[in-house]
Amino acid sequence: MAKAKRAALVRQEPGVLLHRISQLVTMSGEPGARRGREMCHIGLIEDAAVLIRDGKVAAVGKTAEVLRSPWVKEHRAEVIELDCRGKIVLPGFVDSHTHPVFVAPRLIDFEKRVAGASYEEIAAAGGGIRSSIEGVRKSSEGKLADHVFSALRQAQSQGTTTIEAKSGYGLDAASEIKSLKAIRRAAREWQGTVVATFLGAHVPPPEFKQEPDKYVEVVCTEILPEVAKQKLAHFVDVFCERGAFSLEQTERILREADRHGLGTRVHVGQLTNTPLATILAHHPLSVDHLDCLEKADVAALVAGETVATLLPGANYFLATKKYPPARKLIDAGVPVALATDYNPGTSPTISMPLVLSLACTQMRMRVEEALTAATINGAAALELSDRKGSVEVGKDADLAFFELDDYRELPYWFGGNHCAAVMTSGRFADLF
Ligand code: NIG
Ligand code: FE
Repeated sequence: MAKAKRAALVRQEPGVLLHRISQLVTMSGEPGARRGREMCHIGLIEDAAVLIRDGKVAAVGKTAEVLRSPWVKEHRAEVIELDCRGKIVLPGFVDSHTHPVFVAPRLIDFEKRVAGASYEEIAAAGGGIRSSIEGVRKSSEGKLADHVFSALRQAQSQGTTTIEAKSGYGLDAASEIKSLKAIRRAAREWQGTVVATFLGAHVPPPEFKQEPDKYVEVVCTEILPEVAKQKLAHFVDVFCERGAFSLEQTERILREADRHGLGTRVHVGQLTNTPLATILAHHPLSVDHLDCLEKADVAALVAGETVATLLPGANYFLATKKYPPARKLIDAGVPVALATDYNPGTSPTISMPLVLSLACTQMRMRVEEALTAATINGAAALELSDRKGSVEVGKDADLAFFELDDYRELPYWFGGNHCAAVMTSGRFADLF
């Protein structure tokens, strides 16, 4: 290529060079979810540099090394350089489980629970998931999109660059489609990656309360095919639980999702145990919650590829005595991810740093394991680990910058926000 033309191209896309990063957590390693001991390998580099070109990571290493590389030597005058002393940099968090399409907090439920009622008692009295339906059904797509967008912005301000977003508070064809369109609309405005999931099978809506099988029929024959036809979701999720959907109903929906070429994920084991082997036979990308697990379930998970996604924000908010058995899962060799479960009933937080803190203090996950779970393993649970979740050459330059000196401070200073900046595909986002 002629030198003048090359120079013009470089001017268009000069590249960004981050250097003197106090600590860079790269998460470098094999593609896909990490398990067992591998979950402790975070690929830490001190006094690190990252070169970004065309939105991708082009070089990673010690500052001195990257500065010596031939490309940097030749183009140093044209790149934008940023001195990152006093900051830690991580792959942006991948929050692989959220429910952002709702309009109002559930403050009455909250008061009832503070007074001692359980999640199931509140749901039986008309609260819970069903109490969020009316607001979603009455809202326009635009209004729902505004709510989703504001959640995405909050997530980003805490270091999240990729997020999964579920429908599930509309629970009829029109409102579920509207919810997924609201996610798509908000995603177009947001500087990050959103993966939509159809959760029409959250609970049977009030009009089908007496005949849940009929609702499953509607989901399978009407809503899901339309969602697939309009390409509104990547995944299908089911809440398999007492008071929601049985194992049989769950299997029917998983089969239907598969027939339409959609990947699956399942809420399971939150309140009661459901044997996992039957669900895992459908090869869901993830099974989420897993508070109630038996030995056989752990063995079934070890044998497969499904990611176990733990949601300690829900345990905290519902004040359950027991958290999911993270240590048992990791020690047995199950790939574990962490996510917020952002929703108005059980986990009204969208903060991944808070989830990291809960994972360490309440589930005894090592800081390194928690970081792995919140980045590359979350990416694997969304089938995105080839692009997201680590800072490696060729991957999207999605980074989170924290005003901290040591990565272990992230879960340590709980409840604060030390996120100073977020970058997606090499561009800084406007955080506040
Ligand atoms: O993941 N468990 C089902 N879904 C949500 C709760 C939803 C709600 O209460 O609104 C969860 O915890
Ligand atoms: Fe959930």
